[in-house]
Amino acid sequence: MSRPQLLPGPLSPRRKVPKTITRPSYALLGEPGPTHPPRARTAEELANMRVASDIASEALAAAAAAIAPGVTTDELDRIAHEVMVDRGAYPSTLNYRGYPKSTCISINEVICHGIPDLQTELFEGDILTIDVTAYYGGVHGDLNQTFAVGEIDQHSRDLMAATRRALEVGIEAIRPGGQVRDIGRAIEKFVRGRYGIVHQFGGHGIGPDFHDGLHVQHNYDRRGTERFFPGQTLTVEPMLTLGSAEARIWESDGWTAVTVDGSRCAQEEHTLLVTEDGAEVLTTHVPV
Ligand code: MF3
Ligand code: CO
Ligand code: CO
Repeated sequence: MSRPQLLPGPLSPRRKVPKTITRPSYALLGEPGPTHPPRARTAEELANMRVASDIASEALAAAAAAIAPGVTTDELDRIAHEVMVDRGAYPSTLNYRGYPKSTCISINEVICHGIPDLQTELFEGDILTIDVTAYYGGVHGDLNQTFAVGEIDQHSRDLMAATRRALEVGIEAIRPGGQVRDIGRAIEKFVRGRYGIVHQFGGHGIGPDFHDGLHVQHNYDRRGTERFFPGQTLTVEPMLTLGSAEARIWESDGWTAVTVDGSRCAQEEHTLLVTEDGAEVLTTHVPV
């Protein structure tokens, strides 16, 4: 069977988080509050970010292991949710600005923020990005990765490989004293116009805040003149497309971002620490 059109589907009931798990401030009312400027992490924050990143990575791997035709996105969300709460973490996306689920799952033309539901099944030939963020010890760890369902076409394989490389190239551009725009410049140089680079969503400072005041463009934007400093933590999460890089958001849910021309999108994200001579990757992808 070929893939039917992607549509919003019914959601499962809100998943529970044991009372003993420490929640972020927005968990109750959905509002993260004022945005803080980036600052160096303390040793304790950093130790907890390593654990949060590890938990998010384990949850991503567990969900990815269940990918198969016929599996619903809600089932993948359930698996990731259970790993996080079993390890004592709060699934960061749950009620973040009202977002209803514990992961984002974005299939084919969905760029990001796809909401797992009970009706959307995976089909052979799909690509999907699973994005998992865990909150542990007062800090967040955030990663995503794009996977194939069975055999996929050559264009999608190339797109996924280029997106993996774009993340590496972006990470390699980070230097203390360097500028945030170095990341987008390096990615643009690598992409050479072969793919669209999504510019309406970006990477971000991360730590006690899910998204702090640092914004990371994946295309070159000369306004990104902030300088990196050791101890800073951020994500790089390029989204590349096979066609238009322009995004539009489904009116029906206010979240799901799709390419305006229906072209496919891949994404790869890591949480990073700026070191004395570059960047250390805190999250772990599933080996490909
Ligand atoms: N994890 C996503 C990111 O990479 C953010 C998801 S926010 C949500 O930044 F509200 F959509 F869940
Ligand atoms: Co992120
Ligand atoms: Co993410």
